[in-house]
Amino acid sequence: MNRPVKVEASLACANFRNLEADIEQLIAGGIDYLHIDIMDGRFVPNFALDFGIMRTARELCDIPQECHLMVAEPERYIEKTVASGAEYVAIHYEATYHVQRALRQIRDAGAKSGIALNPATPITNLEYILDDIDMVTVMTVNPGFSGQELIPAMLCKIKDVSALLSSTGHDHVEIQVDGNVSFEHIPAMVAAGATMLVGGTSSIFHKDFSIGQAIATVREIVREVKPFQ
Ligand code: DX5
Ligand code: ZN
Repeated sequence: MNRPVKVEASLACANFRNLEADIEQLIAGGIDYLHIDIMDGRFVPNFALDFGIMRTARELCDIPQECHLMVAEPERYIEKTVASGAEYVAIHYEATYHVQRALRQIRDAGAKSGIALNPATPITNLEYILDDIDMVTVMTVNPGFSGQELIPAMLCKIKDVSALLSSTGHDHVEIQVDGNVSFEHIPAMVAAGATMLVGGTSSIFHKDFSIGQAIATVREIVREVKPFQ
């Protein structure tokens, strides 16, 4: 099933000296989602956005928010994340002892559920939670920092996730890629089956492009790619 590829803006990479201007450009450029990175300094050695920024973004625009919880024991924050406006909540497989219960908690709270896999985490871990997820996030870098290089093995991982979802009747589950989603890497990522692209400093907020140009360039690149069969 060839689902349309969604283009997301990783808001943590925006220009916070003038967030409103960036959001206006994202609206004008027709971005599909705001990707909201929330970090706790424990699951990842960094901090990023918070619930307040999610609410500010909602005051500034109606762009749907997809929230990436890079936090330990994410169960503690699921309801708060949904209440702050998240359409999707993605938790890390590695961040909780009780993955299936946390995924069900997301859906019970009224959001779509995502499971994020660190680069070394095998996709066999998805086997018994395929019915509990609406999205798989393949981390194509180690979580926590923008500006990193794609881990090449992740391109095979995207393909393997696509094959697993197709072979088990879960084609409706989105495959998100997060980390160094660049103009150079997007063709291979989409050809491997990626359907949600998290654009950070490598594309949507690339220093040499306006946001509008970057979104249009990503869309053009995606149009040229033969999607995963
Ligand atoms: C990893 C990063 C990404 C980031 C990617 O957690 O925080 O979410 O947005 O941006 P670039 O394009 O710089 O890799
Ligand atoms: Zn992220």
